[in-house]
Amino acid sequence: MRVVSGIQPTGNLHLGNYLGAIRNWVAMQDAMDADSECLFFLADLHAISQPHEPAALHAGTLEMTAALVACGIDPERSILFNQAQIPAHAELQWLLGGSARMGWLNRMTQWKDKAGKNREGQSVALFTYPVLQAADVLLYQATHVPVGEDQKQHLELARDIAQKFNNDFATEDAPVFTLPDPIIPPAAARIMSLRNGSAKMSKSDPSEMSRINLIDDADTVMKKIKKAKTDAEPLPSEAKGLEERAEALNLVTIFGALTGQSVDEVLSEYSGQGFGSFKPALGEVLVETLAPINARFMALKEDREALDAILARGAAKARERGLPTLDAAYKALGLVRG
Ligand code: TYM
Repeated sequence: MRVVSGIQPTGNLHLGNYLGAIRNWVAMQDAMDADSECLFFLADLHAISQPHEPAALHAGTLEMTAALVACGIDPERSILFNQAQIPAHAELQWLLGGSARMGWLNRMTQWKDKAGKNREGQSVALFTYPVLQAADVLLYQATHVPVGEDQKQHLELARDIAQKFNNDFATEDAPVFTLPDPIIPPAAARIMSLRNGSAKMSKSDPSEMSRINLIDDADTVMKKIKKAKTDAEPLPSEAKGLEERAEALNLVTIFGALTGQSVDEVLSEYSGQGFGSFKPALGEVLVETLAPINARFMALKEDREALDAILARGAAKARERGLPTLDAAYKALGLVRG
């Protein structure tokens, strides 16, 4: 088993990232046996696909490293690194570019959402972003990729690219790439904005009130939950009653994901109650989960030397893991690698 996943180091780690992905990374790391390995990385190369501040990207990469360790990623057991230190990611992206199809990339919903009506004005990198993402996982022969729902389509594309490359340039008995499986949590695959139940919680939302950051202090968490958009109805007794109430469903989903309960189980406890009593309960559960992460993050984030050392060690290991596949891809294409 090879587990590989990444996160962009722009902005803060938020509750959607945590419940949709990072918590699963930690669980998979903790369940690893001697024949398996986890590689987790900061997708700093992806971050340049949109306008960015170079100094903030560098600082964000180190901070996100601290945040991941604070969440439970153990650099002794998992390989933790940033993409930019491994040129093989960018190299393999180019090699895969011959197999990826314009039509496939044109269908990516993230491209459509981010480009909006101004496709012509977007960077080439924003368009080819999913090819780099395919390189990220194919380079390491990933078998399992824990992600939130929004990344499922990119993973399907990675499989399509791998399959076409294997068909065109390899034999069935000796494929160059493994087809990766996305691992999506059943309960918290898509955590929504606290201000709008039809938009996902996201680092790029201009409103800080739309998301809970993992480094928010207790007062901020309570304030954001109290101000979260809801409705005036009391909570129903089962999930069906939340079908047309996206904001309410989101808060109950978050509560359940944090306490390990289904939406129905949470509702059986809070049925008939309004948000005046549900919100403080949710705030408390959140603060309880975030307080230890927060404390570890604060202790780690100033130790730049230790964070650099973690990334350097991770990069050395990742480079070694990726080389055989990079060599095989060059060779399959009839290229001699320098
Ligand atoms: P990114 O940085 O946007 O998000 C990191 C992880 O968090 C998940 N996530 C969510 N899950 C549930 N609800 C939400 N509101 C929510 N918001 C984010 C994402 O699904 C993701 O798992 N392109 C990727 C980074 C990447 C990557 C990769 C991932 C680059 N290469 C290779 C996996 C494999 C991204 O921008 O994720």
